[in-house]
Amino acid sequence: MLSKDLPGPKGKPIVGNMFEVDINNLHNQLSDWVDEYGDVFNLNLGLTNMLIVAKPSMIDYIQKNRPTLFRRMDKLNNVLKEEGISGVFNAEGEEWKRHRMMVAKGLDIKHQIAFFPWMMTVTDRLKRKWQKDVKEQGAFSIQDDFLRYTVDVSTNLAFGKEMNTLEERQGAIQDDMEKVFPMIFKRINQPIPWYKWFKSKADKEYNAATDRLQEFVDDVITSTKQKLHDNPSLKENPQNFLEAIIVAAEEDQHFNDADIRSNLLTLLLAGEDTTAHTLTWAITLLNDQPEVIAKAREEVDRVLGEHQTVTRFEQLQQLEYIGAVINEVMRLKPVAPITLYQPNEDVEVEGVKIPKDSRMLLHLRKSATMEEHFSRAGEFVPERWIKAKSQCPVHNTAAYNPFGGGPRYCPGANLALTEMKLVLAMLFKNFDFKLETNVEDIKEIMAFTMMASDFKVSFTPRKNNH
Ligand code: HEM
Repeated sequence: MLSKDLPGPKGKPIVGNMFEVDINNLHNQLSDWVDEYGDVFNLNLGLTNMLIVAKPSMIDYIQKNRPTLFRRMDKLNNVLKEEGISGVFNAEGEEWKRHRMMVAKGLDIKHQIAFFPWMMTVTDRLKRKWQKDVKEQGAFSIQDDFLRYTVDVSTNLAFGKEMNTLEERQGAIQDDMEKVFPMIFKRINQPIPWYKWFKSKADKEYNAATDRLQEFVDDVITSTKQKLHDNPSLKENPQNFLEAIIVAAEEDQHFNDADIRSNLLTLLLAGEDTTAHTLTWAITLLNDQPEVIAKAREEVDRVLGEHQTVTRFEQLQQLEYIGAVINEVMRLKPVAPITLYQPNEDVEVEGVKIPKDSRMLLHLRKSATMEEHFSRAGEFVPERWIKAKSQCPVHNTAAYNPFGGGPRYCPGANLALTEMKLVLAMLFKNFDFKLETNVEDIKEIMAFTMMASDFKVSFTPRKNNH
């Protein structure tokens, strides 16, 4: 059957469901429609149709056949290109393979181990900041701390800059970065790109922010090139992602300065919000879970001993329960619940004929929250991820894709998991915390990544800290 002939919400004549779609709540709206029309359905957007796929086997097929059969949605690619970004996230075909190889090298396990001492430093700073907050302020907004934590980690990984936006609040590039994703999401969802002709205040602020980011990145590239020129021996053993890609670019004539800049910006953007928002969701989900917190504490006390934070890379492996907590947070609150693609040619998947260039949306979250794939699907049960302890017989990992899948699986997944384990282990070891906002009032906001509406939390030193 042709994808546009599949069942779907009825909509109005001519405009279809175009004006019904609530962009900032799109993932939940689509989720409700899956319940009504099934895990593959058509959304009529008036001038165009969009195929919605929430079926794990189809999602798997589509992800495995990228970039050959499917590409990122052109509109997203175009909005990124307007900002001069043509890196691994939006490249396709052979070009993508080259970008991907370079980025994967910069994020491999060897670099992560070398980078680990810095991650411990930043985790320590976060602990210090929270200890100060306990004394000096009451309830505070924790999202901002997590965003600054991930900026301080990513900027050093990306280009060796030891930033301390956590403790020195002024002039943080995080302020500019946080304008980027919401605007990209807004622009890809505008039926007519008005911003090209009429710039609102938000458009102007966004343009100024992206200009500053580009300038910041260009300065770092220039100074790193000079450093490599002055110390050619550094080329043998690059210290960070930027040094590694500059050296690689000297050997690969296809890779130019614009590619280097694009991938640096991509890494900063892809690595910041995603990890920070996942940590934020963890706080909201752990709020009423004294048993989970007690088990996590038993684990950190055992693994960390008398230390207040993780001190050795090998300890990360031993934090099995905290790893399960993170999996469970990403099952219920994946920060990338939906992704957008287009087929490069006419394709048939499980009997659905999808025409070349038509629009497709994969709903990555839906199946992970369905009883047919996970027992007690709506509950927060970290034990389900530990085979020996699980009492949840239905556990279909094929329905769980928080980091995507196939060749374009998130190359930053391990880095993100390390950051999250470091932060949560430090939190459980040192602090008690409490939401000061009603959990029902914390809303999911879809702004490219799925973030939480602002909420307040209060910290106190942990009682009975060993
Ligand atoms: C909890 C944290 C994270 C989550 C949930 C996450 C999720 C994802 C997902 C779902 C994709 C696939 C999107 C698609 O293909 O449609 C992706 C791709 C990507 N992620 Fe992550 N990510 C996280 C952290 C990071 C970090 C820390 C970095 C880098 C430092 C990173 C860099 C990238 C890049 C470069 C891609 C594009 C890969 C490609 O297209 O080949 N991510 N991520």
